[in-house]
Amino acid sequence: MPCCGSCPSLRPSAWTITEAPGIGSIPPYNSDVQGSDGVPADVTALAEAIHAADVVIIASPEYNCSMLGVLKNALDWVSRTEDQPFKNKPVCLQSVSMGQLGGARMQYHLGQVMVFLGADVFTVPEVFIGAGHQKFDADTLALTDGPTREVVGKQLAVFVDYIGRVSA
Ligand SMILES: Cc1cc2nc3c(=O)[nH]c(=O)nc-3n(C[C@H](O)[C@H](O)[C@H](O)COP(=O)(O)O)c2cc1C
Repeated sequence: MPCCGSCPSLRPSAWTITEAPGIGSIPPYNSDVQGSDGVPADVTALAEAIHAADVVIIASPEYNCSMLGVLKNALDWVSRTEDQPFKNKPVCLQSVSMGQLGGARMQYHLGQVMVFLGADVFTVPEVFIGAGHQKFDADTLALTDGPTREVVGKQLAVFVDYIGRVSA
Protein backbone atom coordinates (compact mmCIF):
# COMPACT_ATOMS: atom_id res chain seq x y z
CA MET A 1 0.00 0.00 0.00
CA PRO A 2 2.77 2.52 0.48
CA CYS A 3 3.02 1.80 -3.17
CA CYS A 4 3.81 2.77 -6.69
CA GLY A 5 0.30 3.81 -7.60
CA SER A 6 -0.63 3.53 -11.23
CA CYS A 7 2.75 4.68 -12.49
CA PRO A 8 5.94 4.90 -10.43
CA SER A 9 7.73 6.86 -13.14
CA LEU A 10 5.37 9.80 -12.51
CA ARG A 11 6.29 10.12 -8.86
CA PRO A 12 7.58 13.48 -7.60
CA SER A 13 11.38 13.58 -7.86
CA ALA A 14 12.00 13.67 -4.10
CA TRP A 15 9.96 10.54 -3.48
CA THR A 16 11.21 7.03 -2.88
CA ILE A 17 8.50 4.52 -3.67
CA THR A 18 8.16 1.40 -1.56
CA GLU A 19 5.78 -1.31 -2.69
CA ALA A 20 3.57 -2.59 0.10
CA PRO A 21 3.89 -6.13 1.46
CA GLY A 22 1.45 -8.51 -0.24
CA ILE A 23 -2.06 -8.80 1.18
CA GLY A 24 -3.19 -11.93 -0.67
CA SER A 25 -2.33 -14.42 2.06
CA ILE A 26 -3.87 -12.54 4.98
CA PRO A 27 -6.55 -14.79 6.54
CA PRO A 28 -10.16 -13.59 6.85
CA TYR A 29 -10.56 -11.26 9.82
CA ASN A 30 -12.00 -12.95 12.88
CA SER A 31 -11.85 -11.31 16.31
CA ASP A 32 -11.91 -14.73 18.04
CA VAL A 33 -8.84 -15.77 16.05
CA GLN A 34 -7.15 -12.47 16.85
CA GLY A 35 -7.95 -13.05 20.52
CA SER A 36 -6.45 -16.55 20.55
CA ASP A 37 -3.63 -16.30 17.97
CA GLY A 38 -2.86 -12.60 17.83
CA VAL A 39 -2.15 -10.59 14.70
CA PRO A 40 -0.78 -12.53 11.67
CA ALA A 41 2.77 -11.67 10.62
CA ASP A 42 1.57 -10.42 7.21
CA VAL A 43 -0.71 -7.92 8.92
CA THR A 44 2.04 -6.73 11.24
CA ALA A 45 4.33 -6.27 8.24
CA LEU A 46 1.66 -4.25 6.45
CA ALA A 47 0.93 -2.08 9.49
CA GLU A 48 4.65 -1.44 9.99
CA ALA A 49 5.07 -0.49 6.34
CA ILE A 50 2.21 2.01 6.59
CA HIS A 51 3.67 3.45 9.81
CA ALA A 52 7.05 3.82 8.10
CA ALA A 53 5.66 5.57 5.02
CA ASP A 54 5.22 9.34 4.95
CA VAL A 55 2.21 8.90 2.66
CA VAL A 56 0.23 6.04 1.17
CA ILE A 57 -1.11 5.62 -2.36
CA ILE A 58 -3.71 2.90 -2.89
CA ALA A 59 -4.29 1.95 -6.54
CA SER A 60 -6.91 -0.73 -7.10
CA PRO A 61 -9.38 -2.29 -9.51
CA GLU A 62 -13.09 -2.60 -8.68
CA TYR A 63 -15.10 -5.72 -7.90
CA ASN A 64 -18.90 -5.65 -8.07
CA CYS A 65 -19.12 -1.89 -7.66
CA SER A 66 -16.95 -1.87 -4.56
CA MET A 67 -13.51 -2.61 -3.24
CA LEU A 68 -11.90 -6.04 -3.50
CA GLY A 69 -12.67 -8.33 -0.58
CA VAL A 70 -8.97 -8.98 -0.08
CA LEU A 71 -8.32 -5.24 0.27
CA LYS A 72 -11.19 -4.69 2.71
CA ASN A 73 -10.00 -7.69 4.72
CA ALA A 74 -6.48 -6.25 4.93
CA LEU A 75 -7.90 -2.89 6.04
CA ASP A 76 -10.08 -4.60 8.66
CA TRP A 77 -7.05 -6.39 10.11
CA VAL A 78 -4.84 -3.31 10.07
CA SER A 79 -7.61 -1.30 11.72
CA ARG A 80 -7.45 -3.68 14.68
CA THR A 81 -3.72 -3.35 15.26
CA GLU A 82 -2.33 -1.32 18.11
CA ASP A 83 -1.90 2.34 17.14
CA GLN A 84 -3.63 1.72 13.80
CA PRO A 85 -1.37 3.24 11.18
CA PHE A 86 -3.78 5.16 8.96
CA LYS A 87 -4.53 7.76 11.65
CA ASN A 88 -3.42 11.16 10.27
CA LYS A 89 -1.66 9.47 7.33
CA PRO A 90 -1.96 11.35 4.01
CA VAL A 91 -3.61 8.89 1.62
CA CYS A 92 -4.14 9.22 -2.13
CA LEU A 93 -6.52 6.91 -4.00
CA GLN A 94 -6.43 5.74 -7.62
CA SER A 95 -8.59 3.18 -9.37
CA VAL A 96 -8.62 1.48 -12.73
CA SER A 97 -11.08 -0.73 -14.56
CA MET A 98 -11.80 -1.99 -18.04
CA GLY A 99 -15.16 -0.18 -18.03
CA GLN A 100 -15.74 3.53 -18.47
CA LEU A 101 -16.20 4.47 -14.79
CA GLY A 102 -12.61 3.68 -13.90
CA GLY A 103 -13.47 2.07 -10.58
CA ALA A 104 -15.16 5.21 -9.21
CA ARG A 105 -17.60 3.22 -7.12
CA MET A 106 -14.92 1.25 -5.30
CA GLN A 107 -12.93 4.41 -4.75
CA TYR A 108 -15.80 6.17 -2.97
CA HIS A 109 -16.32 3.15 -0.72
CA LEU A 110 -12.61 3.00 0.00
CA GLY A 111 -12.58 6.73 0.76
CA GLN A 112 -15.34 6.22 3.36
CA VAL A 113 -13.28 3.57 5.11
CA MET A 114 -10.18 5.75 5.04
CA VAL A 115 -12.07 8.69 6.54
CA PHE A 116 -13.36 6.41 9.31
CA LEU A 117 -9.79 5.32 10.05
CA GLY A 118 -8.79 8.95 10.46
CA ALA A 119 -6.56 9.16 7.39
CA ASP A 120 -6.00 12.53 5.73
CA VAL A 121 -7.70 11.51 2.49
CA PHE A 122 -6.68 13.58 -0.51
CA THR A 123 -9.68 14.31 -2.73
CA VAL A 124 -9.12 16.39 -5.90
CA PRO A 125 -8.01 15.84 -8.62
CA GLU A 126 -9.33 12.31 -8.68
CA VAL A 127 -7.81 9.51 -10.76
CA PHE A 128 -10.28 7.05 -12.31
CA ILE A 129 -8.68 5.18 -15.19
CA GLY A 130 -11.35 3.70 -17.47
CA ALA A 131 -10.57 1.30 -20.34
CA GLY A 132 -7.44 0.39 -18.41
CA HIS A 133 -6.67 -2.56 -20.66
CA GLN A 134 -5.89 -0.05 -23.44
CA LYS A 135 -3.74 2.27 -21.34
CA PHE A 136 -1.02 0.08 -19.85
CA ASP A 137 1.72 -1.89 -21.57
CA ALA A 138 0.78 -5.55 -21.18
CA ASP A 139 4.40 -6.64 -20.62
CA THR A 140 5.92 -3.87 -18.50
CA LEU A 141 2.64 -2.67 -16.91
CA ALA A 142 3.81 0.91 -17.55
CA LEU A 143 1.10 3.51 -18.03
CA THR A 144 1.41 4.42 -21.71
CA ASP A 145 -1.65 6.60 -22.36
CA GLY A 146 -0.54 10.25 -22.63
CA PRO A 147 -3.66 12.03 -21.29
CA THR A 148 -3.89 9.58 -18.39
CA ARG A 149 -0.22 10.15 -17.56
CA GLU A 150 -0.96 13.87 -17.41
CA VAL A 151 -3.89 13.36 -15.03
CA VAL A 152 -1.87 11.10 -12.72
CA GLY A 153 1.11 13.47 -12.79
CA LYS A 154 -1.15 16.39 -11.91
CA GLN A 155 -2.80 14.47 -9.10
CA LEU A 156 0.56 13.62 -7.53
CA ALA A 157 1.78 17.23 -7.87
CA VAL A 158 -1.33 18.57 -6.10
CA PHE A 159 -1.03 15.78 -3.53
CA VAL A 160 2.45 17.07 -2.70
CA ASP A 161 0.96 20.52 -1.91
CA TYR A 162 -1.74 18.83 0.18
CA ILE A 163 0.85 16.86 2.17
CA GLY A 164 2.62 20.12 2.94
CA ARG A 165 -0.62 21.62 4.25
CA VAL A 166 -1.77 18.69 6.42
CA SER A 167 1.72 18.02 7.76
CA ALA A 168 2.41 21.66 8.71
C1 LIG B 1 -15.41 -10.68 -9.20
C2 LIG B 1 -15.15 -9.55 -10.16
C3 LIG B 1 -15.95 -8.43 -10.11
C4 LIG B 1 -15.72 -7.36 -10.96
N1 LIG B 1 -16.48 -6.24 -10.83
C5 LIG B 1 -16.18 -5.15 -11.58
C6 LIG B 1 -16.88 -3.92 -11.38
O1 LIG B 1 -17.76 -3.81 -10.55
N2 LIG B 1 -16.52 -2.86 -12.12
C7 LIG B 1 -15.52 -2.94 -13.06
O2 LIG B 1 -15.23 -1.93 -13.70
N3 LIG B 1 -14.83 -4.10 -13.27
C8 LIG B 1 -15.14 -5.19 -12.54
N4 LIG B 1 -14.43 -6.35 -12.72
C9 LIG B 1 -13.34 -6.35 -13.69
C10 LIG B 1 -12.04 -6.03 -12.99
O3 LIG B 1 -11.95 -4.66 -12.70
C11 LIG B 1 -10.90 -6.44 -13.90
O4 LIG B 1 -11.03 -7.82 -14.15
C12 LIG B 1 -9.56 -6.20 -13.27
O5 LIG B 1 -8.60 -6.44 -14.22
C13 LIG B 1 -9.35 -7.13 -12.09
O6 LIG B 1 -8.01 -7.07 -11.65
P1 LIG B 1 -7.35 -8.38 -11.04
O7 LIG B 1 -7.16 -9.30 -12.20
O8 LIG B 1 -6.08 -7.88 -10.42
O9 LIG B 1 -8.31 -8.92 -10.04
C14 LIG B 1 -14.68 -7.43 -11.90
C15 LIG B 1 -13.88 -8.58 -11.96
C16 LIG B 1 -14.11 -9.62 -11.11
C17 LIG B 1 -13.22 -10.84 -11.16
